Amino acid sequence: MWGGRFTEKPASVMEQINASIDIDRRLWRQDITGSRAHCEMLMRQNIIPRQDGEAILNGLTQIEQEIESGAFEFRRDLEDIHMNIESRLKEIIGEAAGKLHTARSRNDQVATDFRIWVREAATSAMGGIEELRNTLDTLSQTHKDSIMPGFTHLQPAQPVTLGRHLDAYAQMLGRDKTRLEDCARRLNFCPLGAAAMAGTPYPIDRDFTARTLGFEGPIPNTMDAVSDRDFAAEFLFCAALCGIHLSRLAEEIILWSTPQFGFVRLSDQWSTGSSIMPQKKNPDAAELVRGKTGRLNGNLVQMLTMLKGLPLTYNKDMQEDKEFVFDSFDTILLCLEAMNGMLSTATFNTGRMLKSAEDGYTTATALADWLVMNLGLPFREAHHVTGAIVKMAENQNAKLHELDLTDMQKIEKRITKEIYKVLSIR
Ligand code: ARG
Repeated sequence: MWGGRFTEKPASVMEQINASIDIDRRLWRQDITGSRAHCEMLMRQNIIPRQDGEAILNGLTQIEQEIESGAFEFRRDLEDIHMNIESRLKEIIGEAAGKLHTARSRNDQVATDFRIWVREAATSAMGGIEELRNTLDTLSQTHKDSIMPGFTHLQPAQPVTLGRHLDAYAQMLGRDKTRLEDCARRLNFCPLGAAAMAGTPYPIDRDFTARTLGFEGPIPNTMDAVSDRDFAAEFLFCAALCGIHLSRLAEEIILWSTPQFGFVRLSDQWSTGSSIMPQKKNPDAAELVRGKTGRLNGNLVQMLTMLKGLPLTYNKDMQEDKEFVFDSFDTILLCLEAMNGMLSTATFNTGRMLKSAEDGYTTATALADWLVMNLGLPFREAHHVTGAIVKMAENQNAKLHELDLTDMQKIEKRITKEIYKVLSIR
């Protein structure tokens, strides 16, 4: 491609460090889409003859079919997806292929392809989130009256319902989705026309290419257009945070499926056994969802670190950007699906949850609130009185609702039998 100035071929390690085709071949569809729009614009603006433009478009269609059918040969020596496609175009249509790159650089080309890719990825990830959210919504409805202990510090705190517990995750996922929407909206501007970085002298129509490719409009500053990858970093953050939400849910499933908790039973489809301990049923999928946050966070940190300190505009460091994004996309989609599969086939042991909610004096706060609301005690004093009642219950080895009224009245004489309304779990 740049033979004019070079007399020697690249060293083989140079080729190895330079080539990105094994990774960026995933951009092939977006690259062809971008080239089509660019070519159409060149024809409309009479920058290239219509005949050449038609030949280019036909050639691109043939390449599309070759890649789809698996017949296309991706070559390392051609570095990246852009050069692979352009080189094949030349084999198919001859010299006219060389006109496609008029008024364009790989810098604005790759930035355009990548934005389109991330935009699509964000949409797919939102779909995955939505599916899991539907499952959580259904479960929350089913369990809107299933009582369980709510925890703080993983100590029994107050009785809640499983419905509300699961809905908390549905809420988090709802925000994860709007974060992706936001990311997709902010990135939706087109780099094409920036060329290498300073724009191009041809009478191009940036509005046309932007519109054709579904962008809001062209990116106003050509240097910004080719050099920022903030959209990719944002996508990685969205994936990482969503992964963290999933990881917290995964952790609960892991805890809840232990015999000690016994709140949930995973289906056989979503469990694994042990090669030595025949009794084992392990929540591997949940553990992997938890474990994969390492990757998701790592990818974000890699992107931020790669970008940090790069002078404007394009630097080859930026070729490293795609691998992180592809990996985070695959990972988050897999985690969402696994979580969905696990939850929709799990059985919750609501009896066990109810029993567990009765342990640990989880209605003590309700008792204190009753003292405030009915006897006018200051909350701190009510807290103190309740503490004494809990201690008494502990000594009698009884639940709060099993205590005698007279015993409670020894601690606070104004307590009435109305108190029992808030002492039982229900
Ligand atoms: N493969 C390159 C990348 O992904 C394409 C852009 C190359 N530009 C350049 N000036 N060498 O970053």
